[in-house]
Amino acid sequence: TDTHSTGPFIAAIDQGTTSSRCIVFDRDGRIVSVDQKEHEQIFPKPGWVEHNATEIWENVREVVDGAISKAGITSADVKAIGITNQRETTLLWDKNTGEPVHNAIVWQDTRTDALCRELGRNVGQDRFRRETGLPLASYFAGPKIRWLLDNVEGLRERAEAGEILFGTMDSWVIWNLTGGTDGGVHVTDVTNASRTLLMNLQTLDWDERILSSMEIPAAVLPEIRSSAEVYGTTAEGVLAGVPVASALGDQQAALFGQTCFSEGEAKSTYGTGTFLLMNTGAKPVNSYNGLLTTVGYRIGDQKPVYALEGSIAVTGSLVQWMRDQMGLINSAAEIETLASSVEDNGGAYFVPAFSGLFAPYWRDDARGVIAGLTRYVTKAHIARAVLEATAWQTREIVDAMTKDSGVELTALKVDGGMTSNNLLMQTLSDVLDAPVVRPMVAETTCLGAAYAAGLAVGFWPDTDALRANWRRAAEWTPRMDAEVRDREYKNWLKAVQRTMGWIE
Ligand code: G3P
Repeated sequence: TDTHSTGPFIAAIDQGTTSSRCIVFDRDGRIVSVDQKEHEQIFPKPGWVEHNATEIWENVREVVDGAISKAGITSADVKAIGITNQRETTLLWDKNTGEPVHNAIVWQDTRTDALCRELGRNVGQDRFRRETGLPLASYFAGPKIRWLLDNVEGLRERAEAGEILFGTMDSWVIWNLTGGTDGGVHVTDVTNASRTLLMNLQTLDWDERILSSMEIPAAVLPEIRSSAEVYGTTAEGVLAGVPVASALGDQQAALFGQTCFSEGEAKSTYGTGTFLLMNTGAKPVNSYNGLLTTVGYRIGDQKPVYALEGSIAVTGSLVQWMRDQMGLINSAAEIETLASSVEDNGGAYFVPAFSGLFAPYWRDDARGVIAGLTRYVTKAHIARAVLEATAWQTREIVDAMTKDSGVELTALKVDGGMTSNNLLMQTLSDVLDAPVVRPMVAETTCLGAAYAAGLAVGFWPDTDALRANWRRAAEWTPRMDAEVRDREYKNWLKAVQRTMGWIE
């Protein structure tokens, strides 16, 4: 843009599922510069997904350098750094060498499904729901830690001896930023900790009873801190000396970036997966309809704010799969062109249960299906079914949210990479029968991390100042016939049933 931003600035690092990025923001919440780098997706076996954490840390350093140099600024212009991250992805590393003991196990990875069933034996999937707000599912970090301790030779002994650190990607990035083996701080924030199945939602501390049930030594765990406070200072590089002042799981960061600070406000972020979070205020609300109870954010020593969440494992990653594994499109953007070349789905429905089904089903035993195929169906119909899958999965979550909260959706605030797809946004509005609204800054994840860091260092005075920055950029309104919507929803739900019980 030609509007010239004058400093000071806040930098945000988003360590996401497919890439790491760094964005520099000015006081109006406008983007000054962006740098981004993808990392390798490692699929060692069906259902397994890993990342190389060393590669990720190198990428983080590169994108920080990149964003700062593109902005043409120095560390003196940057008042704080905020961190946001793919949640649940689990890493254990050696405290003395800084070396990961294994690839990070990604949130989408289903290798712990049998372990989760075993942990729930006789009691059921809700064994730890009262304490943690979560069902026992392969999605969360706790079972992944247990898997590593059981499967990496000699690791349990080293962990018990205090030589091993656990972290989700927030902890890994903060530990490295603040000095690593040379004095790095080992912390996580309440939002990330709330995704481990190990944190008690009331005390906001690790739950000893669960730790012992899962056989996880407390010695590996980071200290749980608020989402907006100074954890330490950057040890070296272009931002040496800058305070590291926020951490939020990416979905909670998007809630923050969309300024959903009041009870009942919600957003849905369309990235690798899709996550709809609703602010439920000062009290954790139990879900009876397959949603998660999670921490929304906590600013310093203020009271925590809770959220209800509907999580969808596969949305943007289905488009990537169409591109990388199937070769049916050359770029992610092409899915829209291809899908727009036909009127409808031609009778085909695609349920991408690649990581089992998340909300509202929580079925680790589900696997993907394409249903309704006839000789008539073309790749364009499949492209359409791909986009519709994202819309219907959202619809199921909105229905669950309405049941749990008693609040009817009046409009949905959206953000994330997939919101640049017009056909998808129109379809979403059609199947929800509600307006869909996108803000000016679609990078709400980074923005939320920047906002939290800025609050922590007094760059912004309060949340009201942040609200004033929110601006509507686009809106889609429903056009679909009620009859068509009902028929299509029924077909979608039928296809969903076909995915379950695939893994015995
Ligand atoms: O819970 C997983 C979520 O945090 C990943 O988000 O945007 O990297 O797909 P994203």
